[in-house]
Amino acid sequence: MNLRLKLFTLFSVTYLLIFIVIQFASNSVLLGGMEELENREITGETANGVASVKQRISDIEYATRRFASYDNIYRFTKAPDLVSEEYVWRVVNDAALSESNINYVIIFDLEGESILEKGYYKNSKIAVSEELVNFFEMNSILVVHQKVDSKLSGLLKTPLGLCAISSQPISSEEDKIVGSMVLCSLIETETEKATSDPTLMQVNLVPLTENIPAHTASILHEITNDDPIYVEKPNEDTIKGYSVVNDLYGNPAILVAVEAPRLIYGMGEKMVNYFVLSFVLIGISIGMLAILALNRLVIMPLSKLSGEVAEINPQTINETSVAIPGDDEIARLSQDIEGMLKTLREYQNRMKETERMVSIGATATMVGHDLRNPLQVVVMLTDLIKKKINRLSDDEQHQEIERLTNRIKEQATYMNKIVSDLQGLTKGLSLEIEDVYLVEMVEGILESVQIPENIFSQVYFEEDFPEIFADKAKIQRVLTNLIINAIQSMQTGGELVVRGHKDGKKVCISVIDTGCGITKPNLDKIFDPLFTTKAKGTGLGLTVCKRIVEAHSGEIFVKSHQGVGTMFTIFLPIKQEPKSVEDKTETGIDYASYHEHILPSCL
Ligand SMILES: Nc1ncnc2c1ncn2[C@@H]1O[C@H](COP(=O)(O)OP(=O)(O)OP(=O)(O)O)[C@@H](O)[C@H]1O
Ligand SMILES: [Mg+2]
Repeated sequence: MNLRLKLFTLFSVTYLLIFIVIQFASNSVLLGGMEELENREITGETANGVASVKQRISDIEYATRRFASYDNIYRFTKAPDLVSEEYVWRVVNDAALSESNINYVIIFDLEGESILEKGYYKNSKIAVSEELVNFFEMNSILVVHQKVDSKLSGLLKTPLGLCAISSQPISSEEDKIVGSMVLCSLIETETEKATSDPTLMQVNLVPLTENIPAHTASILHEITNDDPIYVEKPNEDTIKGYSVVNDLYGNPAILVAVEAPRLIYGMGEKMVNYFVLSFVLIGISIGMLAILALNRLVIMPLSKLSGEVAEINPQTINETSVAIPGDDEIARLSQDIEGMLKTLREYQNRMKETERMVSIGATATMVGHDLRNPLQVVVMLTDLIKKKINRLSDDEQHQEIERLTNRIKEQATYMNKIVSDLQGLTKGLSLEIEDVYLVEMVEGILESVQIPENIFSQVYFEEDFPEIFADKAKIQRVLTNLIINAIQSMQTGGELVVRGHKDGKKVCISVIDTGCGITKPNLDKIFDPLFTTKAKGTGLGLTVCKRIVEAHSGEIFVKSHQGVGTMFTIFLPIKQEPKSVEDKTETGIDYASYHEHILPSCL
């Protein structure tokens, strides 16, 4: 699985988990709270509906008590034949009936026989049905009171329908009961609205007759004394609260049903939906941005880096660069890889160098072995010829042969130098340390090499220039090589200076010429084996010099200006100590910069 897919999966799974948690939390906490709030509201309204029914009963009870205590009523009930019923209607007038919502007024005598009746409905007088009068006469318990303070109030199923009734005795001040008064208020079966606002609660009073629908029966089953209000949510938009009011006999008489739109819950649901939707949109946008940013900032540079690293091979390692600009972690990683590549390149170059040296070594060993003996024979034979020709009398012939033998020896010596250089390059260097006096050595070399007449040579050594411990033959080879190079660089003549002075625990010898100089690109290569600009050069001289100087724990530097001249400087420890570099810190002299400063003054 690649990084992009991993990130996408990780992001999706995390986002899904957060989404599930938020969905659960908003549903259970927010919608749960809203549901509880609407439950409480509907329960309260249902209780109000029940209270409104009970209020009608107590209104009618109060009106009955008031009417029954009127003297006019008492006198009429006591002697209905003698007292006009107008006395009654003067106090039980239409206004009083309308105010208390009373539909029927019936006065009974002591035996429970009706002696006066009145019907009133919606501001008009109506007849009192015989059925109703008979109903009360048949249920004398409702209309015959034994005590002055007895009363009966409540809901009652009458032949005219469900009524709120109140029955109270009519008595004198001496507490003599003369009859009873019954007031009846018809309970409307139609919906009674608690408010005119259609969006708010509707209170329905449903009379419970013999034929109760199954749904109503199931609701009644849910309503108990401990839990008198039952809340039902038939659908997403409506909530209903139910409660029951019993009749006078304790049987369920009215189902108070309150219905309300689920505004709070609907609003909560909308809020949750908007919240979830915005969460989804924001999450997707942030996720896309994060993935795009990661893709651009991390994955693309990483893929590029990985592609470039994969393409690296030993053949193209020198041309390959994987560095990414910047200072972030990926840029640093690329720079680290670049550093590793650099090290690899160095190792690869060193390997090549080693391989080259191994093959040179093999050739050199073979050539050295094969040439060394014949060369020595040639030199010996040349010396022998020289001795023999000394005895010859012919001067002219003698000089000619001596000139030729000198040339043979010269060439043989040069061939010997090549062999020595090759062997010095390939064999392990073992130093044979002895006292070396460099002033004498330099003078000897200048005498032995052929210096053209147009070159003026000078030697400047400090007076107390010390003897050093070194391998004499090898140091001689170094100085000879440097002096020969200097002479060869001054084809049209010039000045050769060899300077020497003591420098702390080291000696410093500079070979300075006013020759052709070395070009800048060649300066980096002159110590490489086989590098030469000369037609007859082997390119081994400086390589051997460097090896020998470093074997003595010394250092060699070059400073050159093309067309001006060249200065080679070698630093050699007076005594052979393992680390010559430490001497630099001891004396406080930086040999490289010293070398830089001395050249211009010498040239
Ligand atoms: N004093 C100098 N002035 C100018 N160029 C120099 C000087 N010394 C060295 N060089 C340059 O450095 C090259 C390498 O020198 P090096 O002595 O190693 O080899 P060489 O002189 O060419 O051959 P040989 O092996 O015979 O010495 C020379 O070919 C020359 O170009
Ligand atoms: Mg040379």
